[in-house]
Amino acid sequence: MESLKDKLKRDKIPQHIAIIMDGNGRWAAQHGNARIIGHQQGIMAVKSTVEGAGEIGLKYLTLFAFSTENWKRPKYEVDALMKLLVQAIDNETADLMKYNVKLGAIGDLEKLPLSVRTKLKECIGTLSSNTGLNLILAISYSSKWEITEAAKNLATDVKEGKIDREEITDRLFAKYLPSSHLPDPELMIRTSGEFRLSNFLLWQLAYSELYFTDKLWPDFRKDDLFEAVYDFQNRERRFGKISEQLF
Ligand code: IPE
Ligand code: IPE
Ligand code: MG
Repeated sequence: MESLKDKLKRDKIPQHIAIIMDGNGRWAAQHGNARIIGHQQGIMAVKSTVEGAGEIGLKYLTLFAFSTENWKRPKYEVDALMKLLVQAIDNETADLMKYNVKLGAIGDLEKLPLSVRTKLKECIGTLSSNTGLNLILAISYSSKWEITEAAKNLATDVKEGKIDREEITDRLFAKYLPSSHLPDPELMIRTSGEFRLSNFLLWQLAYSELYFTDKLWPDFRKDDLFEAVYDFQNRERRFGKISEQLF
């Protein structure tokens, strides 16, 4: 039987997929467990998704792991999440190496506990020569934070006379975003049946295809990724034009 993966057009795989991994807490509640168990199970979903991304030759996968707003959660949950991040990075580095994955991170990383920053830096270093999938963790990330950073840095360059006010275009502005090294995601997936962006990549998602699924993140697997890509491949992206202009 033809699998979902076989049905994908290999020349139309997006370059960059961004995922809001949501629903860990509800998954745990449904299984009668504490929220942190849901976060732990979420790692299985990350593993399967990363594997699937590699199988279809995806170049960039950005995972929203912790938002600026998530700092407002109860301290015990934040602490547990930080501990889990360190553990997960520790446990998964060898497999990421095996899959030729390169790791990156976006967000206000200064706010992270030293243990997380150190572990992250170490893993990024270990995987830095890999040439396969670029896996980017958005941690302590919010789009408004990122856009504000860009505005601040641009203001400095204008003040110092490096940039003339009239030279500012959207393309130039984008170069000042802390994530400017990443192409815009063609596809954004959010799990758990919520229909919002929660301050994720607002600038970069301006023309992305959005895909929402009711699956809770801990239940998400590579086949769900393939299904989202299949859906994406059957959409018409017009970028303001009309259909007839696209061919
Ligand atoms: C997503 O799952 C993980 C993080 C935000 C860290 P949630 O923890 O938001 O789970 P729900 O939305 O409460 O079910
Ligand atoms: C968004 O999920 C952030 C991450 C997945 C890391 P939330 O669960 O924090 O989003 P809201 O609060 O429901 O919008
Ligand atoms: Mg949530």
